[in-house]
Amino acid sequence: MSSSSTSRRVFLRQATAAGILQNNQPSPTGLALSPYVLAKFVDRLPIPAIATARKTVPHPHNARVRIPYYSIAMREFQAKVHRDVPPTTFWGYGGSSPGPTFEAKSGEPLMVEWRNELPNKHLLPVDKTLHGAEADKPEVRTVVHLHGGKVPPESDGNPERWIVPGQSAISFYPNQQEAAQLFYHDHAMGITRLNAVAGLFGMFFIRNQVEEALNLPRGDYEIPFVLCDRVFTLDGQLSYPTSGVPGKPWTSEFYGNAILLNGKLFPFLEVEPRAYRFRIVNTSNAGFYTLSFSKDDKNLVPGNEPFQMIGSDQGLLQQPVSLKSLAITPGERADVIVDFSRYPGEHIYLKHAAAPIMEIRVSSNKTNDAFKLPATLRSIERLKESNAAVNRELTLVDYKDDKGKAKLMLLNGAHYSMPVTEKPVLGTTEIWTLINLTDDTHPIHLHLVRFQILDRRRFDFAAYQKTGKLVFSGPAISPEPQEMGWKDTVRADVLMVTRIIVRFEGYTGRYVWHCHVLEHEDNEMMRPFEVVKS
Ligand code: C2O
Ligand code: CU
Repeated sequence: MSSSSTSRRVFLRQATAAGILQNNQPSPTGLALSPYVLAKFVDRLPIPAIATARKTVPHPHNARVRIPYYSIAMREFQAKVHRDVPPTTFWGYGGSSPGPTFEAKSGEPLMVEWRNELPNKHLLPVDKTLHGAEADKPEVRTVVHLHGGKVPPESDGNPERWIVPGQSAISFYPNQQEAAQLFYHDHAMGITRLNAVAGLFGMFFIRNQVEEALNLPRGDYEIPFVLCDRVFTLDGQLSYPTSGVPGKPWTSEFYGNAILLNGKLFPFLEVEPRAYRFRIVNTSNAGFYTLSFSKDDKNLVPGNEPFQMIGSDQGLLQQPVSLKSLAITPGERADVIVDFSRYPGEHIYLKHAAAPIMEIRVSSNKTNDAFKLPATLRSIERLKESNAAVNRELTLVDYKDDKGKAKLMLLNGAHYSMPVTEKPVLGTTEIWTLINLTDDTHPIHLHLVRFQILDRRRFDFAAYQKTGKLVFSGPAISPEPQEMGWKDTVRADVLMVTRIIVRFEGYTGRYVWHCHVLEHEDNEMMRPFEVVKS
């Protein structure tokens, strides 16, 4: 638990993704490709296609209403991540990665048939010692979770409800929730990290009138940025570095040296000198990003250009927050407005840490964009601590082997398969006090619900180890202004207590909560919870 190991983890996490480390990482087929020798900004940023419904079908609970029915196949396909890199084999929804973007309206349900048409052999090394991925399970299994969706349990993408190639599963998405930027991704038990690296994720927007009324940039002026980091072999194939231990390939975090934006490495984007809305999601397994906009393309310092954050995981913030850099952990989303009218004819670079990852070319044509960002976006009622029926203290714990290497991580010391201990009552509010006993930051996600962050606070680790009692050793730190909206994923910082307040609304039944570092999730840092009737 030394602070030097902590800062090294944080450095590795940022440096690897920024490409600062030079990469001779061994990969199954040899050395890894160094993206930093590639020509930069030669490929246009692709925009994922919009998903289209195949037909309408009767609403499952109200046959007089018809709802859209989508049918999306998961397929193996090849795509170019860069002009000068040979085509890469991916797995993706609708044969692309990111998959097609869903456009939904609040209160208007839809149905999706998810078809697994993948091959029977995995693209990446499966660890058969992990829970749920044992040798008696098929190698290729998939189940789709709509992250941030208030979805009935049978459609939620429970990790155990996987299907195999040749099968399909139907999900019902009620969309009875406020406007938000959700995303869908694979969640199969014990192999989520591999299915994600293979490319199984896509965006899912829910819109409503509150948002419409703000007249935010839309159409060509609203652009999704799906970020992830990858490692490629010299011949351009996906690589997932392994532990080197025979039969136990799992490693505790996957960091790539190549950052893909909507599936491209170092893309460029052409914009007009006006306001744009960028919808950002971090779909990396373990990579945390610190994003900024810069006038310079050097890999020296982060950018310094201002932008406005207007929304987070579960929709709009109450007020825009002016930022110069934005930290985003796996699973988190950010909705930002950048005003390019300040930069006619210039190039602006999107950076992660100091490294430019995309070039934005601002044209010098005049536009008649009169967009003014409103001072208030919506009102957000703060949940009151005094309304919480239960306060649960829940630990985040990791276990090391005798060489000090991570072995597994648990939530509250319990394995996934142990009996359910968290049983919130439908309609009640709870405080979840996340006590991080590890030397790592974990983005914690709860299915079904949205929540607010109360505070983060240092505590006496040694005293907690000895007595199991929380003794705070620092003041409560309020969430950052851009964390004051509705969230579904929260950064539980190293050796801190992070408190969230959650109202359990929507449905009764079994859901999961977990760390969104997918290597942790796959190695037991996931637990069921069950919403019960009062
Ligand atoms: Cu985005 Cu359970 O995950
Ligand atoms: Cu974790």
